[in-house]
Amino acid sequence: MQVFHTDSKIIITCNKRLSPYLQQEVEALGFTPDRVFQTGIELTGTVNDCIPLNLNLRCASQVLYLIKSFTAADPKELYDGLVEIEWEKLIDFTGYFSITSNVNNEHILTPLFANVKVKDAIVDRIRSVKGVRPNSGAESNKTVIHLYWQDDKAEIFLDTSGETLAKHSYRKIPGKAPMLEALAASTIIATNWDKVSTFINPMCGSGTLAIEAALLATDKHPGLFRMNYAFMHIMGYDEQVFFVERRKLKDKAKKEIKFKIIATDISQDAIDISQKNANTAGVEHLIEFAVCDFEDTEVPAEPGIVMFNPEYGERLGVHTKLEITYKRIGDFLKKKCLGYRGYVFTGNPDLAKKIGLRASRKIEFYNGKLDCRLFEYELYEGTKRDPRE
Ligand SMILES: C[S@@+](CC[C@H](N)C(=O)[O-])C[C@H]1O[C@@H](n2cnc3c(N)ncnc32)[C@H](O)[C@@H]1O
Repeated sequence: MQVFHTDSKIIITCNKRLSPYLQQEVEALGFTPDRVFQTGIELTGTVNDCIPLNLNLRCASQVLYLIKSFTAADPKELYDGLVEIEWEKLIDFTGYFSITSNVNNEHILTPLFANVKVKDAIVDRIRSVKGVRPNSGAESNKTVIHLYWQDDKAEIFLDTSGETLAKHSYRKIPGKAPMLEALAASTIIATNWDKVSTFINPMCGSGTLAIEAALLATDKHPGLFRMNYAFMHIMGYDEQVFFVERRKLKDKAKKEIKFKIIATDISQDAIDISQKNANTAGVEHLIEFAVCDFEDTEVPAEPGIVMFNPEYGERLGVHTKLEITYKRIGDFLKKKCLGYRGYVFTGNPDLAKKIGLRASRKIEFYNGKLDCRLFEYELYEGTKRDPRE
């Protein structure tokens, strides 16, 4: 099975509402999507094409390569369709594999049962041909097989990523309520920031937005920080392809920038964590960190963007304090950030109203399951107060 050189359907998954930003990245790499949907993108390519996708994409979760599509009304038909696949040419009998799935079939009450059926078919097939079977389990750092089964339509994929691409491997210490790296990168892409003007991130927490901004500005991609992907554990893998793609990442990465990225937080711990994470990402020297109330954040005369991700209080009783904070954020933007574009990412629309400025855009996101918005404010002399305030 020549998966490394044979075209098939590729599905790149992402968190809900990130696909417009993922699409921009995929097209910038020279690929043409066949279809874009809320949680991903479909295109056509080989497993070798999946290698640059895995190394470059900031907004993706997994890159899946279709092995077979077939009709399966029940678990027996699923097993029969799977046992025919030449698994012995994909998974080394001395290797290790795991199964993930997205299942909606009337016979399946728990996805674990579907996973076991897939595992059985793979193991039975390889044992019948090779006399021995590979190990299997829950770890996703070796070969990973993904089942997509809706009603009687089954699709079996090689998950070429394994561990999610949505984490970018530099954040060793998460801090309080950190944004997922893929989400942070997507929100910055959504601002249309030019990557050459000031980027200010007050209330930076573990530094995710400032670090992602520095990575975007220097053209550094997540593949620089990761040396293991599931495609490396598929039989026929040629490591030269990986090293060539990794070399390209190193060659295009810039070392310096000619503008300021500023990250501040009221908590010394948060700044310590941010600096450590920035150091792991190799961008610590590009970010000016400071411990201060957000109101005291330096705002350089050369405008750019200011991006906030304040807490939005899912617990009761904290709202009064947060209402004041959101109002102060509005005042800070209005009084100190003229000429900038301001952004506030929040999951609480009532608190957002306290900012008291009229948003020029409200961009939809999810943070996990929580419906969120990125509010955009054009900050000029006559910036309008929101009449509701
Ligand atoms: C939701 S967290 C930010 C998470 C961040 N986006 C990340 O990815 O890690 C909000 C941060 O605001 C900080 N903060 C709260 N009140 C502040 C204030 N008045 N001035 C500056 N920072 C503040 C907290 O210490 C916390 O780190």
